[in-house]
Amino acid sequence: MRDAAPQTIYLSDYKPFGFEVTSVSLTFDLDPTATRVKSRIAFVPKPDAGGRMFLHGEKLKLISAQIDGAPVTPDLSDEGLTCAVPDAPFIWEAEVEIDPQNNLALEGLYMSNGMYCTQCEAEGFRKITYYPDRPDVMSIFTVTINGPHPVLLSNGNPVSAADGHAEWHDPWPKPAYLFALVAGELVAHPGSFTTKSGRTVDLNLYVRPGDEGKCAFGMQALKDSMKWDEDVYGREYDLDIFNIVAVDDFNMGAMENKGLNIFNSAAVLASPETSTDTNFERIEAIIAHEYFHNWTGNRITCRDWFQLCLKEGLTVFRDSQFTSDMRSAAVKRISDVIELRGRQFPEDQGPLSHPVRPESFQEINNFYTATVYDKGAEVIGMLRRLVGADAYANALDLYFDRHDGQACTIEDWLKVFEDATGRDLTQFKRWYSQAGTPRVTVKDAWYAGNYILSFTQNLKPSATTPDPQPQVIPIVTGLLSPSGKESVPSQVLELTEATQSFTFEGLPERPVPSVLRGFSAPVVLESELSEDHAAFLLAHDTDPFNRWEAGRGLARASLLAMIRGGTDPDPKYLDGIRAVLGDAGLDPAYRALMLSLPSQSDLATALHDAGETPDPAAIWAASEAMREAQAQHLADLLPGLYADHQITESFAPDASQSGRRSLANATLSLLGRLESPERAQAQFDAADNMTQQLAGLAVLLRQKAGKSALQSFETQWKEDRLVMDKWFGLQVMQAEPDAVASTAATLTGHADFNWKNPNRFRAVLGALATHHAGFHHASGAGYRLLADWLIKLDPLNPQTTARMCSAFQTWKRYDADRQALISTELDRILALPDLSRDTTEMLTRIRGS
Ligand code: PHE
Ligand code: ZN
Repeated sequence: MRDAAPQTIYLSDYKPFGFEVTSVSLTFDLDPTATRVKSRIAFVPKPDAGGRMFLHGEKLKLISAQIDGAPVTPDLSDEGLTCAVPDAPFIWEAEVEIDPQNNLALEGLYMSNGMYCTQCEAEGFRKITYYPDRPDVMSIFTVTINGPHPVLLSNGNPVSAADGHAEWHDPWPKPAYLFALVAGELVAHPGSFTTKSGRTVDLNLYVRPGDEGKCAFGMQALKDSMKWDEDVYGREYDLDIFNIVAVDDFNMGAMENKGLNIFNSAAVLASPETSTDTNFERIEAIIAHEYFHNWTGNRITCRDWFQLCLKEGLTVFRDSQFTSDMRSAAVKRISDVIELRGRQFPEDQGPLSHPVRPESFQEINNFYTATVYDKGAEVIGMLRRLVGADAYANALDLYFDRHDGQACTIEDWLKVFEDATGRDLTQFKRWYSQAGTPRVTVKDAWYAGNYILSFTQNLKPSATTPDPQPQVIPIVTGLLSPSGKESVPSQVLELTEATQSFTFEGLPERPVPSVLRGFSAPVVLESELSEDHAAFLLAHDTDPFNRWEAGRGLARASLLAMIRGGTDPDPKYLDGIRAVLGDAGLDPAYRALMLSLPSQSDLATALHDAGETPDPAAIWAASEAMREAQAQHLADLLPGLYADHQITESFAPDASQSGRRSLANATLSLLGRLESPERAQAQFDAADNMTQQLAGLAVLLRQKAGKSALQSFETQWKEDRLVMDKWFGLQVMQAEPDAVASTAATLTGHADFNWKNPNRFRAVLGALATHHAGFHHASGAGYRLLADWLIKLDPLNPQTTARMCSAFQTWKRYDADRQALISTELDRILALPDLSRDTTEMLTRIRGS
């Protein structure tokens, strides 16, 4: 039997709940296998309530239920209960029993290393008690916790606390998905923040004993986020206390529960010795993200889960603005675009493609996707570009004024922008309903002193969007003179038609266009402009994104030619990056990004787009050859670059130092192709921070000289779960394609491979799935190994299993042999009698018909 018969939910079927919930009071008597939850809920029927009420509830043992003090006997099903109710306000009381210890799905109330914690988004509250578990039902919660733990936490402000008992009250109405409870032996890293109106907020970061030394950075990031949201969005925090708890077993990154954020420990714990620069930056961004949800998500929430991008797209956009302000805007933009192309584009171009606002789903957990989050954020960025920064700020003020305390829709959001700016957003709204990555072709012409840029939107029908219409695409464009000076500064060209031209008059000579600056829209730009054009932009563009993009375009074109015909790397590309690398006036982080190559799966996408069948082994070979060529071509510069970017002052995880480390380590990696292992070994041995240590180890592993370093690393970090995740992952990532599956398989036999922990599971199996040539090795060993482990994990943790199924989403790109190998694995999983609803939906969509 499946969890529940797969049932499709449609946006168009939305109906409001028939009752208001005016207050909720919950009492928890904690016990590992028999926690009792008492609920007391005040319902007010709406005029059309109809005398019966449905409450969600799953895996609950109902002990008792009463309405206005009189026992009732509801009808129970796998999904909840139905009960006859009065047509006047009434009090519902129920007691249920749940089993947190055996809840390995990590949804609802569960245990992690002896502590109790909850995860309710999207539909986990129904595993805690019977309730209308939908985001448009907002209420005021009071929570009592009884348990023998020193720390007992819930949302809102503390009301009372005594030995073994705590009471919390959250004055802000909220949907059940924002409920949270934590109980355990935790230590607090305290802090405090004074809001702009002068209120003091107590901050705490709760961690397990032993992790106290990893709190300072997260606490500072929280304060920075609170300040930034006041300065930039005028948003002040609204409770006396803000708590963050680090949990080892967590399916996602973190969760924005009101006043009590719960974090995957990997997304909050940081120290120089144990965290890389990339970790620091990600942690800062996630802390900001969850904090920003307090206004975009919590105070204003979603009417239903189809509107998920209302909070997620906007909050990702806000956290990316924050990171740009805290660090380098150019570097952040480039990293976001790499991420978008690496995760969202393949999703949007394959069987899992869906609009930013989906119109149907079976399991909402499957829609926490790159499309909803990252394309959702791009859509906000385009809106801001189209209306301008000031109008955007006014619109946001209106949004907060008008909708505070409400559960809203994308229609509400767009109406705010229409009212604030007077703009008609009917066509813009297509960004929310049309799936697929728009393709735009650009060409140029020059005559009689006029320069003309012509754009075409290639509207390709897909399963989700059979009849695509032209979208509004803001194309930020600047023109350079042939000598490399900016002759027409950046302006927004608003593409609204399928084909459209823009004319620039009065130019003394034919300019060189720089189109889609800053990646002003999430599209694939196909340019008929030449490689000389790209080389010129790589040398001269004043827009840092497009300058990087020009180098990337040359690298991509050269790699594709190498894959297709065994040609040599393009000297124009190599000369171009050589000039950039040698330019000491450029930010080291930026120069490091210039050295990075399009990922192997990006290359597979490009080949697939061109109607070809990607060969993972050929892509691997070309990428390796290009790396060798980079090393050779830059050989004389590398030792100097490495030496000049060593850091002598004490460690700081800031943009400046991390940029220097990133360039030095990119250099080290290229030097590793030219020299014996001494330099990498020396860096590994001398490292006093994880960035340097891990970079040294990675090069040693690639040089096949990492055996003893790997051992000493393990000995040093055996007790540190987060560092050991890196140790597991790196070995898979650095393996040769032939050895990827066997390396991963061996690691799954390691005594510390605790596969029930999602971070550890992902460290090994996630690394396997992202090693393009290794996962897609012709033997099929990669596919088999992943399938074996998905089969093992699904009964325990459907959510993480289903997410990892996306490794197979690109399967139809590959040759018939690989497709046959993959479909065998997909069918093997789909044939399981008890497969979860989550995994069933994902694999059915991927498998197609
Ligand atoms: N809402 C969380 C975030 O984006 C993500 C999340 C979803 C976490 C579902 C857990 C479960 O910040
Ligand atoms: Zn979020």
